[in-house]
Amino acid sequence: MVSLVEQAAINRTNLLKGVSPEILSEIEKIEEILTVSPETLKKITAHFITELEKGLSKEGGNIPMIPGWVLEYPTGEETGDYLAIDLGGTNLRVVLVKLLGGSKFETEQHKYSLPDNIRTAKAEELWSFIADSLKVFVDQHFPSGTSKKLPLGFTFSYPASQNAINEGILQRWTKGYDIDGVEGKDVVPMLQDALASRNVPIEVVALINDTTGTLVASAYTDPEAKMGLIFGTGCNGAYYEVAKNIPKLEGKYAEDIDPNGLMAINCEYGAFDNEHKVLPRTKYDLQVDEESPRPGQQSFEKMISGYYLGELLRLILLDLYHDQHIFKGADVSLLSKPFIFDTSVPAKIEEDASYEELKDTEALFKEILGVETNLNERKLIRRLAELIGNRASRLSVCGIAAICKKRGYETAHCAADGSVYNRYPGFKERAAQGLRDIFDWDLEPKDYPIIIVPAQDGSGAGAAIIAALTEKRLAAGKSVGIKQ
Ligand code: BGC
Repeated sequence: MVSLVEQAAINRTNLLKGVSPEILSEIEKIEEILTVSPETLKKITAHFITELEKGLSKEGGNIPMIPGWVLEYPTGEETGDYLAIDLGGTNLRVVLVKLLGGSKFETEQHKYSLPDNIRTAKAEELWSFIADSLKVFVDQHFPSGTSKKLPLGFTFSYPASQNAINEGILQRWTKGYDIDGVEGKDVVPMLQDALASRNVPIEVVALINDTTGTLVASAYTDPEAKMGLIFGTGCNGAYYEVAKNIPKLEGKYAEDIDPNGLMAINCEYGAFDNEHKVLPRTKYDLQVDEESPRPGQQSFEKMISGYYLGELLRLILLDLYHDQHIFKGADVSLLSKPFIFDTSVPAKIEEDASYEELKDTEALFKEILGVETNLNERKLIRRLAELIGNRASRLSVCGIAAICKKRGYETAHCAADGSVYNRYPGFKERAAQGLRDIFDWDLEPKDYPIIIVPAQDGSGAGAAIIAALTEKRLAAGKSVGIKQ
């Protein structure tokens, strides 16, 4: 069987047949800076482990390593009806989750499109929008009212410090969100107040990161699930740490927690290497960072997550245009517009099946930029998309490898969700190859001991299961990690 690496080399040769020497030379320069060798992956992983540990220490580090106050592994027998919401990039998802036990659950959901300007709206608009949407949902699903307040798990996919499961102090917005008046504050009372002023019978029982939800939902159905990962607009991972290995809990809560028990950790490893010690950043990565609303933050995320992949492609193309290698004499005013390419653009370019002509790519550039491309240019564009996608997939697995090495997992199911994982062509295969390169497995891909598997619905079922675990803890008279 031809390996992925061999196949990629064959594809490259076929793609670059007939390309002009000028374009070939530009492609080679970019290949040089965007290719991540197995040695580099190993070096990044080693540094990642030390950074995970630093994040758990009292002093802290770049990676926040936020204790998520999920102290139990779900048994699969949790039951009950819960509401869950997930504030995503484009939608607010509201889900009614029925946990049935026996590792089964059912969901009914509705998506409410977020207003266009929400990323930069006022805090009040955000909370009003969420509370109004919840009101509509509750009115529809409980037309004759409710006998008690409905417990809600709030999936809030931003770095939020938690001294309790029903608290979330936003450290900083990520993924292009920039809403004033929320950073540094607890978002739970903000939502609770907006609900109260509309008489919506809901109690926010738990605030959950999407990765923690993914971890718990996947563990509900798969005991081998060791991690919850999101490869989407942003990137991040969660796993269970042994409480005594979290020095920063000492003196604060440690006396109330079983030292040998578990604590879910929302790593927030999108912030990995904000000190710029190991990541092979290019001038384009520096530019993405400088032009973002939060320069200096989320260094890892800015190289690998969906929010930035199209932007990286745009910046490289613009640079090549300025150096007069492509689009000569064309009006490229639209290419100068930040974020004109979302992730679907490099994804579609990589999906273009007409390898000899790249017709879909031609149509895409005409449609989005109004630019006519020649075949030479399209081959370069295709190669760039491959390089950006391949780099992102390979770097993405350093977090997985680091957690496995830190926890001593020799086998693991790493449950993943998110648009890049689910929809970016080749991500899964390239990520598996990245893991192989780090661990030096001499095995067929089907036998790799650490595998990325599709996650269960983290922000729906996961949030509900965590809400159920929290209620169970409270009912057992243990209020550790629950704000009363
Ligand atoms: C956020 C994380 C989140 C990840 C994936 C990052 O930008 O900081 O909290 O888990 O995106 O959604």
